[in-house]
Amino acid sequence: MPKIVVTRNVGEDAMAILSSSPFEIIVNPDDAPASREWILDNISDPEVAGVCVMHGQPGDKVDEEFLERCGEGVKVVSTFSVGYDHINVKAANAKGIKIGHTPGVLSDSVADICVMLTLMTMRRVEEGIQLIKSGGWPTLPWAPFVMCGPSISSPNLTLGFLGFGRISQQTLKRLLVFTSKSHPPKVVYLSSRGRPNQAEIDADWTKEFGVSVERKEKDEIATESDILVVLCNQTPETVNLVDKAFLGKMKKTAVLVNGARGPIVNSEDLAVALNAGQIFGAGLDVITGEPNIGPDHPLVKAKNCVVIPHMGSADIDTRKKMAELCVRNAINGAKGEALLAEVKI
Ligand code: DGY
Repeated sequence: MPKIVVTRNVGEDAMAILSSSPFEIIVNPDDAPASREWILDNISDPEVAGVCVMHGQPGDKVDEEFLERCGEGVKVVSTFSVGYDHINVKAANAKGIKIGHTPGVLSDSVADICVMLTLMTMRRVEEGIQLIKSGGWPTLPWAPFVMCGPSISSPNLTLGFLGFGRISQQTLKRLLVFTSKSHPPKVVYLSSRGRPNQAEIDADWTKEFGVSVERKEKDEIATESDILVVLCNQTPETVNLVDKAFLGKMKKTAVLVNGARGPIVNSEDLAVALNAGQIFGAGLDVITGEPNIGPDHPLVKAKNCVVIPHMGSADIDTRKKMAELCVRNAINGAKGEALLAEVKI
């Protein structure tokens, strides 16, 4: 009987979908990341037609070794994530293996987290929480300008986006609700893709808020943005996109939010910029080296930085939808049918 290997239990509903498929399901029995050994042993079975992998579990990297160990029958690898930086897509496709992922279903959820990080950073929430937890509140009681940060409703702000796909657009829609109605913000974005084009943007939702949306060069985005949200894919071209030079061009009052992948922002350079007051603050859902980030990491220690542990898509409904899309991609691919969402590069 053909098989699908699943490196981590994907929840009751999605496991039920797998169980009712015509495949035998080989699932990692532990509620923990599967070991590399377990994965490589299981995917080499010639009866395996599909594999479900997780993002953020070190053993689940779909690299040359993984692909070499895949049995002849593997037609699809389906990741429980929209991002595919842990997968060598070209090498997989060259072996005739399709890659499935989960776009769309997590856009709202990640956009929510980006807005939360924006507000937390601008309003110094991390610093406020630490003040109370350290017992320091009595030393810094309420005063006219204590614990103040830049206002999201200031007139004529510029909202910048690195990457302008589904999640950026959902983040923008949410941010616009908080911004000035009389002097709406300008929106600038960097995108390596053809879409969205200006006509699509103009024709759609930006009219309601009266904002102008313009594709710009990287340096202009650095210089102009008051709020800069990083939501591009991690590719060799975007690693260290936000580095010392970029940060050096940003406004002292600007905040930076990363909801994409850690390596797009250079951690050392960001820590220096934050500690020197070169930018106002940063909110990070992702960070280079995750999950091995401890309390002594310079970005965790920086008082003007909010760091959370890659929770962008972590709401229950979203994760259920991701699980379902992940297993349906695996089932379709294993049957030799079109995936519901295939990575095309
Ligand atoms: C994704 O889907 O790529 C997220 O970053 C993982 O939650």
